[in-house]
Amino acid sequence: MSIIPVPVQVRPSVGHFTLTSTTAIVAASTAKRKAEQLAAWLRPATGFALPIVANAPAGTSTIELRIENVDGIDGIDGIDGISAEGYALDVNDSTVVLRASAEAGLMYAAQSLRQLLPAQIFSTTTVAGVDWSAPCQSILDQPRFGWRGMHLDVGRYFMPLATIRKYIDLLALHKMNVLHWHLTEDQGWRIEIRKYPRLTEVGAFRPGTIVGHQFEYKEKEVVLNGVPHGGFYTQDEAREIIAYAAQHHIAVLPEIEMPGHAGAAIAAYPELGNLDHPIPVSCQWGIHKHVINVEESTVNFYKDVLSEVLEVFPNHYIHIGGDECPKDEWKSSERVQARMRELGLHDEHDLQSWFIRQMDVFLNERGRVLIGWDEILEGGLAPNAVVMSWRGEDGGIAAAQNGHDVVMAPYHWTYFDYYQSEDREKEPLAIGGFLPLEKVYAYEPIPAALTVEQAKHVLGAQCQLWTEYIPTPEHLDYMAFPRLCALAEVVWSPTSTRDYARFTERMATHLQRLSVLGVNYRKS
Ligand code: ACM
Repeated sequence: MSIIPVPVQVRPSVGHFTLTSTTAIVAASTAKRKAEQLAAWLRPATGFALPIVANAPAGTSTIELRIENVDGIDGIDGIDGISAEGYALDVNDSTVVLRASAEAGLMYAAQSLRQLLPAQIFSTTTVAGVDWSAPCQSILDQPRFGWRGMHLDVGRYFMPLATIRKYIDLLALHKMNVLHWHLTEDQGWRIEIRKYPRLTEVGAFRPGTIVGHQFEYKEKEVVLNGVPHGGFYTQDEAREIIAYAAQHHIAVLPEIEMPGHAGAAIAAYPELGNLDHPIPVSCQWGIHKHVINVEESTVNFYKDVLSEVLEVFPNHYIHIGGDECPKDEWKSSERVQARMRELGLHDEHDLQSWFIRQMDVFLNERGRVLIGWDEILEGGLAPNAVVMSWRGEDGGIAAAQNGHDVVMAPYHWTYFDYYQSEDREKEPLAIGGFLPLEKVYAYEPIPAALTVEQAKHVLGAQCQLWTEYIPTPEHLDYMAFPRLCALAEVVWSPTSTRDYARFTERMATHLQRLSVLGVNYRKS
């Protein structure tokens, strides 16, 4: 058994189910969509017809999908009953039965079934001469956390739609359910906003990119590669991605960065900034001191942007960034200082909180929930905000202790832009740090400081793929895999199943699957 992430309960039995050219997929109307998804996954490699039927004569080889209540997994890690994402998968000699109370669970059962078959099942072209057998067993499974995410920065480097779709496939394969789409940065604005076309006309393009690592340039003049870079997603393209993600039970969380990391927006609309001259879309990395101002018109600009984002993205949570907003410009701007007094605010941290609160109210009035990086705690948290804890666990702990929901994203364990080896010379250039597979696997999303009650505020965790040093989809694969497999197990599987030696054994098979899928994972 080499399913990743490891299921809650696996009961092996004797014998094999063999998928053949006469196998039929049985599904009532409630399970038909997921039956079609499973068939579409199994047909290319096998070349079998795999018709979807309402009933099959006794004795036929069948894979049956059923939406029904599934009895619980009592006694395992205190789990009673099975959640909407949980499933039962029974493999017998002549039948496979997938059961779940909802479509998400059925899809996860189907993902487990794919992983019980030979790795070639992931081929997009027919593979002859394979014995398409799966060992008989009964699996009961459900996730530990409801938020199992991957963050993807497309601001630093634009990633094509095909790559976004590939990652949706890969997330679903690993039973992950949130794609955090980091859409705006100092170096690029990547989502069409119809009211403000310059955001993409100007903000989505830069004339070049810094050569080498930002750290090399402390004293020296920056060298650019002279290769223009850019791109953005139209609203229609974003809608296509959201629909594709929904078919895979993945929520797409859009992030619009404010008030820092907003350089591309300021380049497009200089009146958003604090200077009396325009700035270019940035061609280098690091924390930029140019941030937006706090004029009423700027607040309204961002509300307009969010209005369009809400039209496109149905997601309950909307990410407004909030990280790394240097206060230099606010401190030196007479206009900002006057505004601070006008608003009765004490310092720049209060001002940042005031700004975020405008967005919190705006989103709440529209039935959405604001989420931001843990800096949104500084100067007081907006009443309904969710905190994404990246600078460690402290932000998450503080927020949970104050009754706020939290998503854990601490850089020590979840920043996949970090090196995968201590021997940096042997690795492609990365941002820094050292995050080996084993350390990701050892991550525990519930901070020890939280009580059982407070821990309920931890929605889950996610990995971060910041792309300053990840210019291509191939390199994205290299940084994401195999670490994403470890993170998937951290957020899905019960702590009682956590065993790194066994994980690496299962990974030996899983890597074959990734190879067939064309994932350029790092080979250790
Ligand atoms: C972050 O890494 N600035 C959230």
